[in-house]
Amino acid sequence: MALIAPSILTADWLDLRGALKAARDADIIHLDVMDGHFVPNLTFGPPLVAAICEEAERPVECHLMVERPSDLLARYAEAGAFRLIVHAEATLHLHRLVAESRALGVEVGVALNPGSPLALVEEVAADVDLLLLMTVDPGFGGQSFLTGQLAKIREAKRRFPRLWIEVDGGIHLENARAVCEAGADILVAGSSVFTKDADPAARIEQLRAAAK
Ligand code: DX5
Ligand code: ZN
Repeated sequence: MALIAPSILTADWLDLRGALKAARDADIIHLDVMDGHFVPNLTFGPPLVAAICEEAERPVECHLMVERPSDLLARYAEAGAFRLIVHAEATLHLHRLVAESRALGVEVGVALNPGSPLALVEEVAADVDLLLLMTVDPGFGGQSFLTGQLAKIREAKRRFPRLWIEVDGGIHLENARAVCEAGADILVAGSSVFTKDADPAARIEQLRAAAK
């Protein structure tokens, strides 16, 4: 059964305490860290992540959509993230970046944008815990799921059976089962959980049921 990792990117930022409370039955809290360079959006700095980690009742992972991940890894680990997910596209030295992440004592994930082949992570697959596959072009919540990525999810599960396969972007009640059948172990969901026309806690349960 898939784990559910709500992304608070689309939550009410004026009530993050309430969002975290509503997500207390999730498996993981997914924080989309953006620097305005790797993606055209700017989100959570280390002080806010520290406050979120303090308040959250679930483990917090940071999805680092940043241009210079090496400069920031330690700050987010110190803030309390249990897992750091770095983009293969954000560095020329992925092996070194993975080792730097591992040295901080956190779980390590590597992420791929929709246009990036699985081959980009081949050489570090043995050194990470998780592969995050983007099913939207990163930067914003509320986008549509790129169905062409289902084949990539299946191939990732086949090639990297030891890794957690996390899928991120455009996940909702109607596609959750297909994404899990393709091989996803963890579903990141933002706008389908934090939406004004539904209770986030109920949505998390519905997603879990849909993903069975
Ligand atoms: C996009 C982020 C995703 C996004 C998910 O760059 O990485 O985590 O917030 O939001 P939805 O589920 O709305 O696509
Ligand atoms: Zn994300």
